[in-house]
Amino acid sequence: MLQLGSVFPNFKANTTIGEIDFHEWLGNSWGILFSHPADFTPVCTTELARVAKLVPEFEKRGVKPIALSLDNVKNHLEWTKDIKAYGNLPNVTFPYPIIADESRDLSVLLNMLDLDERDSKGMPLTARAVFIIDANKKYRLSILYPATVGRNFDEILRVIDALQLTDKHLIATPADWKQGDGVMVQPTVSAEVVAEKFPNAKTFELPSGKCYLRETPLP
Ligand code: BEZ
Repeated sequence: MLQLGSVFPNFKANTTIGEIDFHEWLGNSWGILFSHPADFTPVCTTELARVAKLVPEFEKRGVKPIALSLDNVKNHLEWTKDIKAYGNLPNVTFPYPIIADESRDLSVLLNMLDLDERDSKGMPLTARAVFIIDANKKYRLSILYPATVGRNFDEILRVIDALQLTDKHLIATPADWKQGDGVMVQPTVSAEVVAEKFPNAKTFELPSGKCYLRETPLP
């Protein structure tokens, strides 16, 4: 089982941009790997079009997107024409690669199969997994949805922002946090460090009398 904080497994794969070694392809960037049950399916088409439109947002954050679906490269390339038409992106080269996982090897390696969704031969399909990998190839976050529920890519950008922010400061993002909101000082930070680093932090008075809920504007 993959554990947060471990090195994300490396693999070689056939993709729409040729064969890649995943870690080499990532280089010094963060990565988001998101999987799909099948080519030429409606929800997947909306998701891949949405990510194609969000590529500048991923680039701003230093994140390279890569998709995976249980089909071959030829079908993936044919499918990108539909995705571009649906997403109204007629004149662009499809802006990120799609892995061909016909064998399901990667879907098994990354534990992405959904036993409730099967193809016409009764084989399990890949669920809608999201893996976020940082610039040190560390596995930082995952989300797993069934095939019938499309993902919210605003949420995915939000969690990337939260991860990158919490890498820089001794803070954690509270429920429903969005850019510009206050954040929480991490509970292990001493009162002295709070006074020095977060002079505007406010400590909530709580029935327990414990001083762990300290909110601060972004440093
Ligand atoms: C879809 O992408 O629309 C889809 C794929 C497999 C099962 C259900 C929906």
